[in-house]
Amino acid sequence: MKIIGINASPRKNANTQTLVEAVLNGAAQKGAQTRLVNLRELNIHGCLGCEGCKKQLGHCVQKDDLSPLLQDLKDYDAIVLGTPVYWFHVSAQLKMLVDRLYCFMESGTDPDTGEAFFRFDFPAGKKFVLVVSRGDVEPAQMLPQFYDHLNEWLNIIPLSLGAGNIEFLHQYGAEIDRKAAKNDAGLIEKAEALGAGL
Ligand SMILES: Cc1cc2nc3c(=O)[nH]c(=O)nc-3n(C[C@H](O)[C@H](O)[C@H](O)COP(=O)(O)O)c2cc1C
Repeated sequence: MKIIGINASPRKNANTQTLVEAVLNGAAQKGAQTRLVNLRELNIHGCLGCEGCKKQLGHCVQKDDLSPLLQDLKDYDAIVLGTPVYWFHVSAQLKMLVDRLYCFMESGTDPDTGEAFFRFDFPAGKKFVLVVSRGDVEPAQMLPQFYDHLNEWLNIIPLSLGAGNIEFLHQYGAEIDRKAAKNDAGLIEKAEALGAGL
């Protein structure tokens, strides 16, 4: 079993990275082959909206460090995506990666039914773990409805890619303490158990 963990926090060795690593460690203890990618270390850019990928599906015309990563993703049995919550959403680093997944998307109109369709030219059946670290406690004391969209939006990523299984790991109340996850043995245990379950 091959598992890739993608840490989309710009903070080194902070909560998101700790939890993604814990998921990978749990999987490695069960014999999985794991790889951690820290997006902050890569030279990456957002989607240009050029539609160049529609001429050669699955290939983004931009050549940066996301180009090989997008291709590599197809080879893994499980994908662990980790993000801090920034402004009630994901980090810019994760959004750049997700936007670039557009290169796998094909859309059109079914000639027989006339109905619009879209599909992803991406191997289906992968397992996904979505790791989300946030400063706020649960339930959010302030404007809880500000978070309603977050899980739904995150769920769309694996669903679009034809995921076989989707799990979430949430960290609440980290505030700005980068060591909050490291100091939460119960959460680390939960992360490792999720990894072992993969
Ligand atoms: C720019 C920015 C925006 C943030 N927005 C939110 C937010 O909307 N809700 C929240 O609960 N925490 C927010 N936080 C706090 C982070 O989600 C929290 O510190 C998280 O643990 C950071 O993950 P990391 O330690 O992996 O970097 C924000 C932090 C920053 C720097």
